[in-house]
Amino acid sequence: MFAIVAHPAGHVRTPQAMNALFDREGVDAVMVACDVRPEHLAGFVAGLRGVGNFGGLVATVPHKVEIAALCDRLTDRARAAGAVNALRREPDGTLTGDLLDGAGFVAGLEAAGHQVTGRRIYLTGAGGAASAIAFALAAKGPQRMTLVNRSPEKLASLAQRLAASYPAVEVTVGGTVAGHDLVINGTSLGLRSDDPLPLAIEEVDAGAVVAEVVMQPEYTELLLSARARGLHAHPGRAMLEGQLSEMFAFLTGAEKENGDAA
Ligand SMILES: NC(=O)c1ccc[n+]([C@@H]2O[C@H](COP(=O)([O-])OP(=O)(O)OC[C@H]3O[C@@H](n4cnc5c(N)ncnc54)[C@H](OP(=O)(O)O)[C@@H]3O)[C@@H](O)[C@H]2O)c1
Repeated sequence: MFAIVAHPAGHVRTPQAMNALFDREGVDAVMVACDVRPEHLAGFVAGLRGVGNFGGLVATVPHKVEIAALCDRLTDRARAAGAVNALRREPDGTLTGDLLDGAGFVAGLEAAGHQVTGRRIYLTGAGGAASAIAFALAAKGPQRMTLVNRSPEKLASLAQRLAASYPAVEVTVGGTVAGHDLVINGTSLGLRSDDPLPLAIEEVDAGAVVAEVVMQPEYTELLLSARARGLHAHPGRAMLEGQLSEMFAFLTGAEKENGDAA
């Protein structure tokens, strides 16, 4: 038995997708949605430790940061981000937390035929999603990365943590969007119809890929503008789809080396 923990939980779609994957892969398991208020999260997780057939859970808004403190061990990337979105119950009842957002984003890009290695990357945003993406991209060996964000403190902190983990990657803080092959909106701009564009789309190089984290609407103003310019538009939904295979592997224990959990 697996769970997704959220509040509210009526909108979640991961159980449907994961249950279809369990069926397809012949895994005798089910994922259910659990609506848990923040004040009940610790009790919920403590109770699950004693459930012998509980395999793990997916955590989403608003639990990703708080649940990290309830795990017995974290993978490197979960520790670096201070957040967890997948938790696995080990045979001895202990809990391992991982953060799969960034890996999901990269898997989604690769599934669409867009490579990261050797590319010049522009990423705007320094929140939870953008930070996870920055680490996963750096792990793939891009040629260089330009990071941009509204709040300079959060930007500096992300750049510092990234440089500490990936000293070989050339990271520039601030700069224009021209001169990049892969341009990513990692901010929440685009969710609302009156949001300004997160970057100067008219300055993006011809032939570049423009990728989103925002999932609603599927084609944001940024992606519509990119398409109108003949650029490759890569929707935020691909990040979620890319995470499904990562979640499946982590939760079922098919892949246990995720970042030297310790
Ligand atoms: N596709 C997926 O699977 C997936 C997964 C996770 C998240 N997401 C989406 O990713 C988006 C960001 O989520 P998050 O968890 O990273 O949120 P977050 O931690 O709150 O970060 C929000 C980011 O957006 C920036 N931002 C917000 N309003 C802005 C504005 N008016 N002007 C300029 N920058 C602005 C913030 O800049 P400051 O630092 O200056 O505040 C920050 O960089 C959301 O839309 C979320 O739904 C998608």
